[in-house]
Amino acid sequence: MKAFRTVRFVGICVLGVLIAALGGISSPQQAPQVAQTPPMGWNSWNHFACKVNDEVVRAQAEAMASSGMKAAGYTYINIDDCWQGKRDAQGRIQPNEKFPNMKALADYVHSKGLKLGIYSSPGPKTCAGYEGSLGHEQQDAQTYAEWGVDYLKYDYCSFRGDLEAQKAAYKKMHNALEKTGRPIVLSLCQYGMDRVWSWGASVGGNLWRTTGDITDNYDRMTLIGFGQNGLERFAGPGHWNDPDMLEVGNGKMNHDEYLTHMSLWCLLAAPLLAGNDLSKMTPETIAILTNAEVLAVDQDRAGKQGYRVWQEGPLEVWMKPLADGSKAVGLFNRGESGASVTVEFSAIGVRGSATVRDLWAKKDLGKFERSFTANVPTHGVVMVRVRE
Ligand code: GLA
Repeated sequence: MKAFRTVRFVGICVLGVLIAALGGISSPQQAPQVAQTPPMGWNSWNHFACKVNDEVVRAQAEAMASSGMKAAGYTYINIDDCWQGKRDAQGRIQPNEKFPNMKALADYVHSKGLKLGIYSSPGPKTCAGYEGSLGHEQQDAQTYAEWGVDYLKYDYCSFRGDLEAQKAAYKKMHNALEKTGRPIVLSLCQYGMDRVWSWGASVGGNLWRTTGDITDNYDRMTLIGFGQNGLERFAGPGHWNDPDMLEVGNGKMNHDEYLTHMSLWCLLAAPLLAGNDLSKMTPETIAILTNAEVLAVDQDRAGKQGYRVWQEGPLEVWMKPLADGSKAVGLFNRGESGASVTVEFSAIGVRGSATVRDLWAKKDLGKFERSFTANVPTHGVVMVRVRE
């Protein structure tokens, strides 16, 4: 009996030491994990393209902080292409004349409680023809870290090589960023070539574009968004499919079309990078970008990407399972006239009756048996949360 107790005591001690050791590994020394939910922020490209400069970026940070976007969860202020100047004699990348002091800009963004993102390419040139990082990966990663950069979009552009070379190039930048010791989100951008979703995480990508570029156009946005079905098993905390940045507020889609855009991106657990001018937003645009109940669907901690559960012609129902067991559901009408759309509860794994809440209207709609039907305007959506 005594021998047994001793063995048990020793066993418990060994277990304790093991747990302590494991705890030690995962605590302070380890870099904090980034992108545990899809990154939220702003990116300069969709609205400003190459007209981005220091002043624009500061104005966006200011607006993000004061408009309610920061409070809603948006964090990253990301400079896309066209910030780069030449390399100095040591090969260190310099910003061009539009960005007089990148470190000071990063400090300003940080002073607003936000984070700064930047852009480069694994090739010699970026898509707009500026300096890429080829041959300067570690040096660039170090420069970004010294400036205080928190996010890097790494865009294929002029890179040339086979799939193995491409993977190696992305992995090289991932390793270089890691070596700096600064937590920096790595966003892969190569337009969905070579089924990037199946290997993006293995080369250190926290997100990867799954398609070519979005435009502020309903047909283009829906082609991309509704085309994401089937990719859901590749997304999860720390590694997301990226159907490209938002166009909400840029003016070429109507209200219902922007609601479709935002609803779909949230059901997809997509990164939410606003692509409009945050310093000039209508109350309508702010309302679409900051609806807390819709954003909670995107940011749900289970990190599951939604998928299509029903389709009949232009009518589609998409569902995203949420951590608390409820389901977010989008009833979409891609047709040219209003239509009623029904979600059968059996199609979303709900047996019997359930309560339904309209997330855009922020209204409980009541209890429903077996199904829920809504009238959906042309190009519009009704987005609900269904609870058993
Ligand atoms: C590519 C990317 C865009 C943008 C531009 C910049 O087209 O897909 O998102 O970064 O390059 O030149």
